[in-house]
Amino acid sequence: MTTYNVDLSLYITDLFVRQDETLNEVLRRTPRLGLPEINVKPEEGRFLQVLVRAIGARKALEIGTLGGYSGIWIARGLVDGGRLITLEKEPRRAEIAREHFEAAGVADRVEIRTGDAHATLETLTGEVFDFVFIDAEKTGYPHYYEWALQHTRPGGVIACHNAFRGGSVAGLREPDEYTAIMQEFNRKVASDSRVLSTIYPAGDGTVLAVKVA
Ligand SMILES: C[S@@+](CC[C@H](N)C(=O)[O-])C[C@H]1O[C@@H](n2cnc3c(N)ncnc32)[C@H](O)[C@@H]1O
Repeated sequence: MTTYNVDLSLYITDLFVRQDETLNEVLRRTPRLGLPEINVKPEEGRFLQVLVRAIGARKALEIGTLGGYSGIWIARGLVDGGRLITLEKEPRRAEIAREHFEAAGVADRVEIRTGDAHATLETLTGEVFDFVFIDAEKTGYPHYYEWALQHTRPGGVIACHNAFRGGSVAGLREPDEYTAIMQEFNRKVASDSRVLSTIYPAGDGTVLAVKVA
């Protein structure tokens, strides 16, 4: 079996990701502006773009914007006329993300909603999405996932980042305060008959759930 490692990550990144200057600059600005470097990795971003395009997504939701790095990838995967709504609780991060969406040429199709996502989701109850990306506080995942299932079309995809929690879910690293939450979350999705699910194993792992019922 081939063990996925940094060399293979770079191989994918060099060959398939080929970030444009805007995405490179977003990654450079993230620490400069004091944001934590907890965005998805480039090959995860490219994967999100490919996935969004593969399912022909027109309406996407992201929970956890940060500086907009993953949001740019998702927005660039949408079909023509598609829209991304992305939720971020910290106003300064939302403002920085807005600048990045402008720079990336996707501002016309991205709407940032600032505030606690739990409250913002209450305002989105009439919406149905093709694609939902969950990448905010881990304690919120069970609620976000249930909400997403109720607001995703049949055949739609829910993607949930940090499934591996740095490898700790499988004992590769000391558990932290969120390890048990992610273990429980992964178990829940794996046994959920409403979805066809797995984990995409690059980066920190992303749970993928296709709504089938
Ligand atoms: C891991 S970062 C998102 C990274 C981003 N998806 C990317 O890859 O570029 C998580 C973000 O979720 C935001 N967040 C955490 N809890 C939240 C909540 N309850 N409502 C809205 N945003 C929240 C944090 O402020 C942080 O910016």
